[in-house]
Amino acid sequence: MPDLAGKHGLIVGVANKRSISWAIAQATAAAGARLALTYPSERLEENVRELASQLDNPVVAPCDVARDDQIADLAATLEREFGGLDFVVHGAGFAPADALRNPFVETSRDSFRIALDISTYSLIGLTRAMMPLMEKRGGGSVLTLTYLGSQRVFTNYNVMGVAKAALESSVRYLAADLGPKNIRVNAISAGAIKTLAASGIAGFSSILQVYRDRAPLRRGVDQSEVADAALFLLGPQSRAITGEILMVDAGFHAIGGA
Ligand SMILES: NC(=O)c1ccc[n+]([C@@H]2O[C@H](COP(=O)([O-])OP(=O)(O)OC[C@H]3O[C@@H](n4cnc5c(N)ncnc54)[C@H](O)[C@@H]3O)[C@@H](O)[C@H]2O)c1
Repeated sequence: MPDLAGKHGLIVGVANKRSISWAIAQATAAAGARLALTYPSERLEENVRELASQLDNPVVAPCDVARDDQIADLAATLEREFGGLDFVVHGAGFAPADALRNPFVETSRDSFRIALDISTYSLIGLTRAMMPLMEKRGGGSVLTLTYLGSQRVFTNYNVMGVAKAALESSVRYLAADLGPKNIRVNAISAGAIKTLAASGIAGFSSILQVYRDRAPLRRGVDQSEVADAALFLLGPQSRAITGEILMVDAGFHAIGGA
């Protein structure tokens, strides 16, 4: 298991115990990292604080990734509490409900803007704000979460597919910018998992069934399997890997027609 003892990490995207980011928090904490967790609104604060209480000496701070001021405040808090940062997990994603239900062609300008702002731009804004903290440690690892809906059509995934395509492209551009600072930027493309975000996609359970029927491993994946891959990408074993989209989906992406 990668040793993250003495490392400090920021995890954005914990909403409840089903969150992929929570599984990553548990795995990185078990590997020895000290963590900061964020909550985007007062509504989720209690949930996040309760989960964080299972960790050793965590920092819990507000951060709505749509707000530059909150991202800046978060960087100041981490500077004060940690003095630097070794890794960042970006697990924030959101699209308005109508955009995940109506035909894609009906996507409104507003829904498009909100989905791309919260799910995609936030990776750029967050990475920029945390860059000086990672430079202080001589480098770092940034990880985001994406989905195969960036490349293929999944019913009702709609504007999130567009947001994920832009996210994956952003991973490559950020990797190119930050590589000279020894900061790596990668994504995990996870198979479908039943979480709060996924429950917003109409008909999500039929996507889960497609994995069981057609993935080479004939099953879906769970949060802990994504977290194990995250440990690799956040730790020293992946030190030569950046700009990569790692598929953790029971092989589903490899399958074409019948
Ligand atoms: N569940 C899946 O099947 C699946 C598959 C591949 C990728 N993903 C991606 O994984 C990531 C995590 O999703 P999840 O499935 O764990 O669901 P989740 O609902 O637990 O996590 C989504 C997180 O985004 C946060 N968020 C939303 N708006 C925010 C804002 N303005 N500021 C800060 N945070 C905000 C929510 O608070 C929540 O913690 C998302 O990017 C999602 O697209 C999920």
